[in-house]
Amino acid sequence: MSDLKVGLAGLGTVGAAVIRMLERRAGDLAARTGRNLKVVAVAARDRTRDRGIDLSGMRWYEDPVALARDPDIDVFVELMGGADDPAKAAVLAALDLGRPVVTANKALLAKWGVMLAERAEATGAGLHFEAAVAGGIPIVKTLRESLAGNVVERVSGILNGTCNYILTRMADEKLAFDTCLAEAQRLGYAEADPTFDIDGFDTAHKLAILTSLAFGTRVDADAIYVEGIRQLTLEDIEAADDLGYKVKLLGVALRTETGIEQRVHPTMVPKHWPIAQVSGVTNAVALDADAVDLTLVGPGAGGDATASAVVGDLADVARGVKGFVFGLPVATLMKAERAPMQRH
Ligand code: HSE
Repeated sequence: MSDLKVGLAGLGTVGAAVIRMLERRAGDLAARTGRNLKVVAVAARDRTRDRGIDLSGMRWYEDPVALARDPDIDVFVELMGGADDPAKAAVLAALDLGRPVVTANKALLAKWGVMLAERAEATGAGLHFEAAVAGGIPIVKTLRESLAGNVVERVSGILNGTCNYILTRMADEKLAFDTCLAEAQRLGYAEADPTFDIDGFDTAHKLAILTSLAFGTRVDADAIYVEGIRQLTLEDIEAADDLGYKVKLLGVALRTETGIEQRVHPTMVPKHWPIAQVSGVTNAVALDADAVDLTLVGPGAGGDATASAVVGDLADVARGVKGFVFGLPVATLMKAERAPMQRH
């Protein structure tokens, strides 16, 4: 049985969880894929930090681009985050060599997804990103592969675990916003810069990716109306509660007569609706399509949940799964116009 040699850049909460999961599930993954999934090289800034994982025997790089070009890896895993370099340069370096990439980086895909997909198409490298949207919920493959026979009308949901965690604890325990945010950071849910979470941009990055997969548009976060939860107070949440509502940060994309409307904003959801009961770090994505309507609910952030999606993608790479990055050739994707908002 041959090895699938993995080079992994970024040893934070998710990177460490991926290494642990690959070790823990090694036998079963080999049985399922016919290959031994082995991390042979890593890149991170601080070699001395104790991450609770054994890195001995792995080649060490400080420069992720050098890791991406390591001639003795078969797949490059990018878990550094950040929309630009070094993540962008490292992913491009791997794609240019025709080397498959697995990434959890929604900011990178929201900004550079079209260019990266073009490069992946040109060189025949796969670009896999199940972990970039809704953590452990397999929504990327659901939209791109499983629902390929559907016409999607609407995608909506809770796409940021940090915000849902904050809103849940504020509502249930009457805690202050800052206390809940600090706890979400401590638990490893928040982005390195948590303003991405609380100002709605992380949700917008994920929504832009889902919109592309659902409606065949070019990924474009600038086409999204975005409003976060920073301005919400405990009094707002209590007032909504008195009126029979929960406050949720929703991302919504839907087909309208004027184009694909995309928006992210806090929303008052009637308490008896299923989405109002989605609590804590849990995410939920509802899809309305012509043949099926469904809702997927699961952990949206955190080490193991995100590692689950990364390892699933690595198993696809080991099996030789290929396909168009956003489900269609880039040349056929439509421009994502900013459609005027309507009442719903
Ligand atoms: N900061 C993100 C969240 C991580 O809270 O949902 C997962 O993308």
